[in-house]
Amino acid sequence: MSDNKFEPSEAAAPGRYRITITEKGPYLVYGRPPLTIERIRLGPRDAGPGFETGAHFEMRTDPTALCRCGASHRKPYCDGTHASTAWDPTLTAPLQPTTAGREVVEGATLTLEDHPRRCTQARFCQAEGDVRSLVGRSSDPDARQRAIHEAGLCPGGRLTARDRQSGEAFEIRYDPSLGLIEAPAAGVSGGLWLRGGIPFGREDGRAYATRNRVVLCRCGRSADKPFCDGTHATVKWHDGLDDATAAPERTAAPAAGAKR
Ligand code: FES
Repeated sequence: MSDNKFEPSEAAAPGRYRITITEKGPYLVYGRPPLTIERIRLGPRDAGPGFETGAHFEMRTDPTALCRCGASHRKPYCDGTHASTAWDPTLTAPLQPTTAGREVVEGATLTLEDHPRRCTQARFCQAEGDVRSLVGRSSDPDARQRAIHEAGLCPGGRLTARDRQSGEAFEIRYDPSLGLIEAPAAGVSGGLWLRGGIPFGREDGRAYATRNRVVLCRCGRSADKPFCDGTHATVKWHDGLDDATAAPERTAAPAAGAKR
């Protein structure tokens, strides 16, 4: 199991970081936050589930435009292809979180909040046993710890484990940063992971709710834009940026600016 630190953490990131989601084009990233490949590791058990950090990508301009349509030839950067490719850029998700569909699972010492709408198909919730089952058995310290770990790793914040007595949420403390999610075991690439409370909003100034863990769509196919809804896994989207995730027939050269 990793040595991630779990602490209450919903504070907003320092003001220099923010993301504007353009109506028909890219993400405009301000403040040059770190941008890295983040690989989902579901095992082996000796290493435990977690993320492995890969290549770092430079933010050479401020703002830097990152691809939102999934079709850029310079991923992760925007190259203007969104203007000539077939995709629907419509931002359909509400600005503020909704409790619609939320489920609460009460265990012996933990409460699990489940927002299925935030699922990004990362699959940590099964990595060391089914998270709901672990919550149910949370009087066992090992089961409790595994449940906290699995819920905390969920990149889009679908799952949150809380201490049942105090109500305190267990969150991994992230520095403000961006991740390009890769899932080598599934051979697919995922969304743009916002960590550490980076604010994001629309061109007209309306802001989405800031959270410690958010995943935005990079493949252009989500039905809940700007958020990733896991469709990348269904359509087997692959960005060609990470050798570990490479689908051989679709491997592409590294994007300009990538440090290996
Ligand atoms: S990146 Fe996950 S649905 Fe587009």
